[in-house]
Amino acid sequence: MAKVNNGAALLSLCLLLAYSAGQSAAAYVDVEGTVRKEVENAIKGNPGIGAALVRLVFHDCWVNGCDGSVLLDKTPSGGNTEKKAINNIGLDGFNLIDTIKYKLGNSVSCADIVVFAARDAARYLSGGKMAYSVPSGRKDGIVSSDATADAILPQSTFEFQQLKDNFANKGFTQEELVILSGAHSIGVSHLSSFQDRLNDSTATPIDDSYKQALVKDIEDQKKSQNTSDPIEKNNIRDMSLKFQNDSGYDTAGVNTAAKGALDNSYYHANLQNRVLFKSDWVMRTDSKAGDDMAEYMNNATKWNNDFAAAMVKLSKLPAEGSARYEIRKNCRVTNQNYYY
Ligand code: HEM
Ligand SMILES: *[C@@H]1O[C@H](CO)[C@@H](O)[C@H](O)[C@H]1NC(C)=O
Ligand SMILES: *[C@@H]1O[C@H](CO)[C@@H](O)[C@H](O)[C@H]1NC(C)=O
Ligand SMILES: *[C@@H]1O[C@H](CO)[C@@H](O)[C@H](O)[C@H]1NC(C)=O
Repeated sequence: MAKVNNGAALLSLCLLLAYSAGQSAAAYVDVEGTVRKEVENAIKGNPGIGAALVRLVFHDCWVNGCDGSVLLDKTPSGGNTEKKAINNIGLDGFNLIDTIKYKLGNSVSCADIVVFAARDAARYLSGGKMAYSVPSGRKDGIVSSDATADAILPQSTFEFQQLKDNFANKGFTQEELVILSGAHSIGVSHLSSFQDRLNDSTATPIDDSYKQALVKDIEDQKKSQNTSDPIEKNNIRDMSLKFQNDSGYDTAGVNTAAKGALDNSYYHANLQNRVLFKSDWVMRTDSKAGDDMAEYMNNATKWNNDFAAAMVKLSKLPAEGSARYEIRKNCRVTNQNYYY
């Protein structure tokens, strides 16, 4: 133990010296250690924040590449930023990103923080099974538009071909679509994101007893959350025993004790036709996607490995366009009001 500590201390000292040699009077900050600690503490206080962070990196990197554009409240060009996009309903984690940024200071980009925070959330929510490394050095953009986010992010009402095209536009395969959709093993959704599934004029096939349990629960949630657009948990694994039983959910092969865990239980739910989104269900209509989902349902390790690899690829999507890039001082605003 003493040896390890000495090694770590020596490494820190070397990094400090190397850093000080290049920069004057800047103290060494353990960037990744700080993010991890803050993310873990935040999830312990509020488990929902972990799912929010995993979604946040997808929504940042898909639109303009990984450039922190999703975090902006305003830009020099004015107009609504990505946060106002319809497709970004329920997006969260911004306060935690601010807290982390405050601790790390002006040498770490907001885009890097989003990537690291999602990585650490995935690791924590998977009980350490989902561990991967991602490079640092991203820069923050100065452009962010709600219209762009609504044009580029996939929608839950998409057909299979639209989902495939959406992923292909970003250089992602059909298999990676199947793999990354497994993120819906965690988190929540607003009713408005899946109500098409419950309306006879728009419905896509959904297990009938699950649908009935859902409709009943939605009425309860409208009252307890006091809103006409309540949230429901994405994964039937996270619902009450009574809900699961009413839905006829087959728990064979599912670790039902691991509520809130990022794992392959999404594939169990989807292959039983007990998921919220049409975009999840519609993958069942393709035989190759169906085969892949069966494989991930039966092999948790394979999904952990492949999901981690797809997250690394997502986290490396380069900032797009010729706009200026910077390391923001405050993740919510650009450093200048005008750029020449
Ligand atoms: C394949 C296309 C996808 C579609 C159409 C889609 C759509 C959605 C929708 C509509 C919601 C619920 C939003 C709300 O109503 O509050 C949601 C939640 C979520 N999505 Fe996706 N998604 C997709 C892919 C992904 C990917 C690639 C990831 C991450 C790798 C992801 C991670 C999540 C997470 C973690 C949540 C829960 C968020 C929370 O609880 O705060 N999704 N998604
Ligand atoms: C069902 O969908 C149709 C067509 O989109 C819409 O006109 C109707 O208001 C919806 N019904 C409910 C109960 O949401
Ligand atoms: C589970 O569902 C069955 C019928 O589907 C019902 O008979 C039984 O009472 C239910 N059990 C619980 C604990 O809800
Ligand atoms: C599950 O996937 C892993 C990783 O791809 C592989 O090494 C292993 O052989 C698979 N297990 C089974 C039972 O197929």
